[in-house]
Amino acid sequence: MSDHFIARPAGAVRGALRVPGDKSISHRSIMLGAIATGTTRVTGFLEGADAISTMNVFRALGVRIDGPSDGRVTVEGVGLHGLRAPTVDLDCGNSGTSMRLLSGLLAGQGFEARLVGDASLTRRPMKRVTEPLARMGARIDSADGRPPLRIHPPAGRLHGIDYTMPVASAQVKSALMLAGLYAEGETRVTEPAPTRDHTERMLGAFGVPVAVDGATVTVRGGVALRAADIDVPADISSAAFFLVAGAIARDADLLLRHVGTNPTRTGVIDILRLMGADLTLEHPRTVGGEPVADLRIRSSSLRGIDVPPELVPLAIDEFPVLFIAAACARGRTTVTGAEELRVKESDRIAVMAEGLRALGIDATPTPDGIVIEGRGDRADVFSGGAVDSHGDHRPAMAFSVASLRAAGPIRIADTANVGTSFPNFVALAREAGIDVEPIRAR
Ligand code: S3P
Repeated sequence: MSDHFIARPAGAVRGALRVPGDKSISHRSIMLGAIATGTTRVTGFLEGADAISTMNVFRALGVRIDGPSDGRVTVEGVGLHGLRAPTVDLDCGNSGTSMRLLSGLLAGQGFEARLVGDASLTRRPMKRVTEPLARMGARIDSADGRPPLRIHPPAGRLHGIDYTMPVASAQVKSALMLAGLYAEGETRVTEPAPTRDHTERMLGAFGVPVAVDGATVTVRGGVALRAADIDVPADISSAAFFLVAGAIARDADLLLRHVGTNPTRTGVIDILRLMGADLTLEHPRTVGGEPVADLRIRSSSLRGIDVPPELVPLAIDEFPVLFIAAACARGRTTVTGAEELRVKESDRIAVMAEGLRALGIDATPTPDGIVIEGRGDRADVFSGGAVDSHGDHRPAMAFSVASLRAAGPIRIADTANVGTSFPNFVALAREAGIDVEPIRAR
């Protein structure tokens, strides 16, 4: 039996919480700190398994990293050309961000490296990075486009390219920019729709100019990075579980502190507001080049919507819990243009549709989205029952939130990976009023 959660119906959702640090920014703080000159000090670092995987990879590349301790990490940068050949496989665990960004960062090194991951990561597509990197002169072998990836030193230096991405992916964009740091000339990447821009912002903080012209970013190779202090805001993708909890609970008033509100990440706020959520931003400010605010959510009566496709990349990680909100809305919610959900840590369209149906919701998966018939006119939206997260952290947390409007307990299977992005989820959920109990595998 795997680790699982039992989530029981509960009442009010109240209080003030700070969810853990942003996963995307935490990964990047280690990567850029490692190849900078000088000591990078990080606060608010996410102490989840994914960010720790990135940290351990850089330790295996000869970088001294102290922490994490209470969200503090110190990275002793080795400079652009100071990484050492690893003597072990570089284990990215469950983390697609680690593997894709590292494949770009390592493509231009003078040594060989092998990137491996867990069963879920080993199923995920890597051609989206290996193909454009090959155009830059990288030599990467894969098992038919999937991990493990063996990265050989290029013959000579990498060279900049002008690349238009077929998918809106911040991981691909970032991989190419990181490879571009080692390339001759300029590397130019154009995205089909806006995606998270943390790499661009953080490179700027490390003294590397990044030109942004509409949908195109340009970096020049050979520019040294200077160490920086990075204050990681709370992760809006983790806050999203509580935003939906507050929106669907019958009695809710919850404050989420110091949440990153970078406009490339706030699709969840826009979508919840379109659904009628009572969500306000308080004390907006800028911390280390990233916008931050306190988010306040109160109970509301949600309505079903057609999610505007342009919001999809801006809310890509929040759909599992947005589907729970849709089930609690009055009327139908339709999501289109979200085929990327099928290649995340699980096929999130299939996994969520299966779980929603097990809980009595009329949910129909489509190739690029889902149609959910909301039951917001009822007190109990979900029946109790058993669902399977398929080892994916976000569905596991999303179904925990569903318990707030369930008629009976929900048993959620295979929850160990919640620790990849949100190690103290259960404690914070209980503090907020969600009755979720973790049961450890024997
Ligand atoms: C991430 C980008 C997104 C997101 C992932 C983190 C990043 O992936 O789903 O959780 O840190 O760049 P894609 O770029 O593949 O959409």
